[in-house]
Amino acid sequence: MLADSPLAVRIRDRLLALDSHNLRRSLRPPAGIDLSSNDYLNLSTDERVTRAFVEGAECDGVGSTGSRLLRGDRAAFHHVEEQFAAFKGTERALFFSSGYLANLAVLTALTEKGDVLFSDARNHASLIDGAKLSRAEIVVVPHNDLDALADLLRATPCEGVRFVVVESLYSMDGDLARLAEYRDLCRAMHATLIVDAAHAVGVCGASGSGAIEDAGIDANDCLSVNTAGKALGVSGAFVAGPAWAIEHLVQRARPFIFSTAAPPAVAHAIAASLRIIRAEPQRRERLRARAAYLRHRLNEAGIDTPAGLSHIISVVIGDNERTLTVAARLQSAGFDARAIRPPSVPEGTARLRLSVNAGLDEAVLDRFVRALVRALA
Ligand SMILES: Cc1ncc(COP(=O)(O)O)c(C=O)c1O
Repeated sequence: MLADSPLAVRIRDRLLALDSHNLRRSLRPPAGIDLSSNDYLNLSTDERVTRAFVEGAECDGVGSTGSRLLRGDRAAFHHVEEQFAAFKGTERALFFSSGYLANLAVLTALTEKGDVLFSDARNHASLIDGAKLSRAEIVVVPHNDLDALADLLRATPCEGVRFVVVESLYSMDGDLARLAEYRDLCRAMHATLIVDAAHAVGVCGASGSGAIEDAGIDANDCLSVNTAGKALGVSGAFVAGPAWAIEHLVQRARPFIFSTAAPPAVAHAIAASLRIIRAEPQRRERLRARAAYLRHRLNEAGIDTPAGLSHIISVVIGDNERTLTVAARLQSAGFDARAIRPPSVPEGTARLRLSVNAGLDEAVLDRFVRALVRALA
């Protein structure tokens, strides 16, 4: 039967290949001190956010019951979209049930045949998948290399629209894109800039709206994808930008149209989370200080970290098996640090992706560094 089918034989083969390269993933719920989640500001368990979620479910029900274009729409979605657009400084914002879907939506709905997408080589899988699903030509640009991008923009013929696609803060390396330079180049070349702000929103910028704010550029000069499941502590994502682009997504974005809307309680919870981000800048200041402290302590202990200041700190180990062993040792010592292996990162660069959160104090970080030194020995 199905167990002996050609498909089953092939899949067993594929799983064995994963085992032989130490690439098989396993599911493991949180255990130990958090050094791997994206809950940078500890909002996922904040009492005000969880209460808003519960009250939202009591008021609007647990399920949305349909697409936003049908009966799945709720005032809570409109309210949080307006709140997010004001926070981001854009004309409009649209909520999607995940960042993955938001990236697919932007890259498929706004592009047409004849367009060219210039996509950074380290872009997240959701941007790569969105680009592949689009009918645009894809040009991969060396990571964070604006000169190479300028050359490629000049050299690549395009009958339609050029798009430049980057992350503001790269998820696996923790380095930043020089957004003001990207904006200037895009302006000069009449290209549209798309910024995945997944790991910067809530954290970067004086008001927490992201790295676009730090770069001093008008958030309506690009389209940004802002996840709500990371620093905002809930789930989903906002695409933010000029009103005409957002209106087009409502009309044409398949992940928005052909999918049941998120539970409305999610919108209530995000609204609470945004209020906290606005009112409590000390959370992101603490996060910055803790990230700088951990980098400093790691370097003092002789552990290399890529240049940068962000709360995502990669300790590149290289070999898959050794990275798994180091992660397992840390887990036994009570720290939830996870091994990141290809294809999430380039071949030969398996690593611990340490993500700092504002709740980690210096004594805990000191203990962690000692445990990491022992685990690497
Ligand atoms: C850079 C980046 N973009 C998009 C996503 C997808 O967001 P979500 O987890 O909300 O689907 C992620 C998260 O994994 C990410 O790291």
